[in-house]
Amino acid sequence: GRVIVTIDGVAASGKSSVASGVARALGVPYVSSGLLYRAATLLALEAGAPLDDARALLTHLRAHPLRLEALAGGNRLWAGERELTDELHSTRVDQGVSAVAALPEVRAWVDAQLRALPEPFVAEGRDMGTNVFPQAGAKFYLTASPRVRAERRAQERPEDVPAIEAALIERDRRDRVQSAPAPDARVIDTGPLSLEGVIGTILAALPA
Ligand code: CDP
Repeated sequence: GRVIVTIDGVAASGKSSVASGVARALGVPYVSSGLLYRAATLLALEAGAPLDDARALLTHLRAHPLRLEALAGGNRLWAGERELTDELHSTRVDQGVSAVAALPEVRAWVDAQLRALPEPFVAEGRDMGTNVFPQAGAKFYLTASPRVRAERRAQERPEDVPAIEAALIERDRRDRVQSAPAPDARVIDTGPLSLEGVIGTILAALPA
């Protein structure tokens, strides 16, 4: 468990549950990069700032420093003394986050926070294995059909499966630029697998 492990994948492919399980088995923290993009989005929405105004967003982020608490059991996100964690998975943040994540300045800001974290850890997101930690010792990329992912996420959102499926397909489309598997990533179709099955597949594939 001394190497960085990256787990990337499409929206609602199970990355955070899988990363948490792998991290707990290895006794290291896991890092949810998506929470930083979600927190930047929430702050912009609350400030009434346009989600495509990189300069305004960066000014706001410098004034409200965010802190990711990367625990194996679950990540928490703070803006100063205020915990944002429970507000980051609303439908409104789901809908706005891809626009914020498309801004190169915001991506550079997130990348710098992630690269400052002490190793080793399991990092999950879209571009952990490609851009942020290309040197990682083991890389995985999770997929599943939109319907399977929508059915899983319907447990966590108020909308019905068809509405969630349509929103996931749209978010995949907007995220496509930053969401390709690394050439050296092992792609896992999680459709036929249970959560424990995905975790076990990854643990079995790790270098000794
Ligand atoms: O769990 P889910 O896949 O729905 O979302 P997430 O991992 O929390 O990521 C939320 C959004 O943040 C994604 O839709 C991307 O727009 C963005 N993101 C990104 O661009 N790069 C990352 N490394 C992680 C997330």
